[in-house]
Formats: sequence, structure tokens, C-alpha cells
Amino acid sequence: MVDVMLRDGGSGSTSRKLGGYEFYREVLGSPKFVVAPMVDQSELAWRILSRKYGAQLVYTPMISAKTFAVPHAGDKFRKKVFDMIHGEEGGAEDRPLIVQFCANDPEALLAAAQIVEPFCDAVDINLGCPQDIARKGRYGSFLQDDWDLVYSLINILHENLRIPVTAKFRVLPSVERTVAYAQMMERAGAQILTCHGRTRDQRGHNSGLADWAQIAAVKRAVSVPVFANGNVLYWEDVERCLEATGADGVMSAEGNLYNPALFARTNPAHWTLALEYLEIVKQLKTRTPPSAIKGHVFKLLRPALEGNKDLRNKIGAISGRGELEDVVKEYEDVVREFGERMERDAGAAGDAEEGKIGPLLDGKRHIPHWLAQPYFRPGPPPAQQKPAAVKAPPASALPPLSTGGEQSALPAPLAEVEMGPDKPEREELKRKNSSLEEREAKRVREVSPV
Ligand SMILES: Cc1cc2nc3c(=O)[nH]c(=O)nc-3n(C[C@H](O)[C@H](O)[C@H](O)COP(=O)(O)O)c2cc1C
Repeated sequence: MVDVMLRDGGSGSTSRKLGGYEFYREVLGSPKFVVAPMVDQSELAWRILSRKYGAQLVYTPMISAKTFAVPHAGDKFRKKVFDMIHGEEGGAEDRPLIVQFCANDPEALLAAAQIVEPFCDAVDINLGCPQDIARKGRYGSFLQDDWDLVYSLINILHENLRIPVTAKFRVLPSVERTVAYAQMMERAGAQILTCHGRTRDQRGHNSGLADWAQIAAVKRAVSVPVFANGNVLYWEDVERCLEATGADGVMSAEGNLYNPALFARTNPAHWTLALEYLEIVKQLKTRTPPSAIKGHVFKLLRPALEGNKDLRNKIGAISGRGELEDVVKEYEDVVREFGERMERDAGAAGDAEEGKIGPLLDGKRHIPHWLAQPYFRPGPPPAQQKPAAVKAPPASALPPLSTGGEQSALPAPLAEVEMGPDKPEREELKRKNSSLEEREAKRVREVSPV
């Protein structure tokens, strides 16, 4: 347990903030099933849907601390990325919640975090983003090269916020460095560590497997709760990951996007999930970005897009401009058309095997195309294939696992999974000039010397 005494303004009185396991249990309710921070995808409406299907803790998308904290430009940006006006984001229905920032300036990070502290349970720092934009903006995983700065970013929040600070990071190439990095973050004051078991070079086609052995080593080396992230696509992966890493919780990003009921151990009809999500969007006063809606609808319906290209194109053609109500109605109409076709296909399959969920074989299972399921992207073209990028550390480098399970036991098809939007989405997003990278680039250009 980690205690911090906070001085209360001019009164001189002090109050104690909970840390580590006390915070994890008493404030967060001991979450095991965690939905990851996802730019343009872990927005309020999605958080509500995910909680309904078993998520016990959800993170906001990453927010640029520098832009969020700017007094004059801040208002519009704040309303867009974390709306504190309507009382829904960070409200009673949106807890437990951790707000994530990216930053490289401790003072700006503190200013941003102080704005959101009444509306969340903790503030997380993104130390994992591997994208070029993060390299240029000097945040995310590129701060692995400046441990002093990472220490300062965490410590300033630890010393000054009324709520805990947490950190999400990628592993380093060696387990010894990863463990030392995690221990440094714990010393700085991080009260939960989320360890993504991929290095910063493991992205795109080189994504490969997350190294659960590294996560297990981190878990053994620190005394604050650890969330394990990476390689979780099916319910069985959740169980295996908890067992293999000994982590306190499992965080899912892509698995959750393609099946938000992952933690509920079910694979509902994806089009019903899409309608449920759109209904939540409609009910909220907080505006859901049209780009987020499109991303979710595309991902949910992914298993049926290939066989229904006319409907896929209809979704692609929705502009997202105009009244949100009208935009949502456009999506609903196409999703209902999908629904009719999916019911027809399910009816036609009847009792045949292809209409049933199959057993998990070599890390993959047959799931009918009308049900929500993980998406396996095609692997890289042969010329680009590299030898396995992820190796478990030698057994001698690690204390024995208390719970068994190892990286090498992971099924090969998981290696095909990589991060980022798939082709139809990418093309559509590009057309709209609103891709994740472009928007992030724009944000970073606004606030950071590149
Ligand atoms: C669409 C998308 C957006 C993401 N945005 C963020 C983000 O805002 N902050 C962050 O720390 N990680 C972000 N990530 C990375 C995920 O949180 C997670 O670490 C990574 O996808 C590995 O988990 P997975 O194997 O469950 O997908 C994002 C991932 C995806 C797919």
C-alpha cells in the first residue's frame, strides 16, 4: 500500500489518498476486465456499451495534455475530447474511469490532470504509443529513452493530485530493463502499471506476439497492481493471460473493439451490438465523434463486410456531417439491412456446423459471420516476414512462474493480429482526411515542437 498525504490549500489540513492495492480494491472495485485507452474508440458511448458487457474499468482515449491545459484554446478542445459540461463523462454512469494523457512536460501534464481530477478515479500517462507521430512529438514509448522525464511526469502527479497516477507502457527489449523501468515508475509514484507485452518496434506488420513472460516478470517485481495487455482475443485468452502473467487484470483493445462482449464470455450478433451502440449514442447529450461511430460500426460488422460489399460501401459513404441524429439514423438503416441478411444466413445454416461456434483450435475458432468475433488480418507478404520478433527471456533470467503458462504456449494465429484500422476503414478515413494519425498529427503540430 502506498500512502500520500495531501496538503489542503491554505487550511493546512491534510488528507490521505489511497494507493496501490487499497486504491485498486476500494475505489476501483478490484477490476479484472479492463478496456484499453483507444484514440477515437474508447469514447463515452463505447465505454457504456463495454461496461454493460462485463468491462469493470475503462480508460478514455489518450488526450494531449498540452492542448487540454491551454487556457484560451482549451475550451473547445476539452469539450471535444472530454466533455465536463453535460455531466455524463466521468459521471456516475461512467465509473470507474481512468483518463489518459500523453505528455512530455510535467507542468502541463499536472495542469491538464487537475482539470479532470474531479471527473475520474485516476490519471494515466501514455508511455506506450509507438507511432511515428509519438516519436516526433516525443511522447508515448519514445520516453523510454528519458527515464528522468518519465519519473518527473509520474511524480508530479503523485505529489500533487488528489487521485492516483497510473502508467501504461510497452516492454523493452530485455526483461531486466523492463523490470527496472517498471520499478522506476513505481518509485516515482505510479499506483497501477499496465504492461503491454510488445516492444515499441513491434507495430504494423512487425506486431507479433505480446510477451506475457515479460509481463509476469514485471508483476513479480513490483508491489502495485499490474494489468496485462496484448494477445487477448477470446475469453480463454483472458483466463490464460491472468494465469500466465499473474496480473491483477487484463486489458483489451482490439479484442474489445471487435467483440465488446468479450469479457461477458459471449459472441452476440454483431448487428444487434451495433444497434445497441447507436442507441446509446442517440441517448447521450455528449456528442460522439462521427469518426468514432464509423470506426465502431465497421469493426463490429467486420465478419460480414466481405460478403455484403454493397452495404459496406453504404457505410463508407455516410459522411457524418449534419445533425448527429440524422447521421445515426443513416447508420441504423444500414445496420438493420445487415440484420435482415444475417438472420437470413443464420436461418439458412440451421443446425449445420458452419452455423455454430466451434472449439478453439490452434488459437482460432470458427464463429459464424453474423456473430461478433476477433479479426485476423492477413500476415505480411512473405518478403517482409521476419523471424519471430518476440522471445521469452531465458528461464534462468526469471524467478519461476507461480501460476504456469508461458509465451511459447501462445497459438501462432495470434501473431497475425496487428493494430490499426483495416482496409475499407483506412480508405474511408483517408478520404475523409480524418485518420487517427492525421488528427493526432494535427493535434501534436498544434502543441509540440516537431
Ligand atoms: C484503435 C486503437 C486506438 C488506440 N489508442 C490508444 C491510446 O489512446 N492510448 C494507448 O495507450 N494505447 C492506445 N492503443 C493501444 C492499445 O491500448 C493496446 O495497448 C494495444 O492495442 C494492444 O492491446 P490489444 O492486443 O488488446 O489490441 C490503441 C489501440 C487501438 C487498436
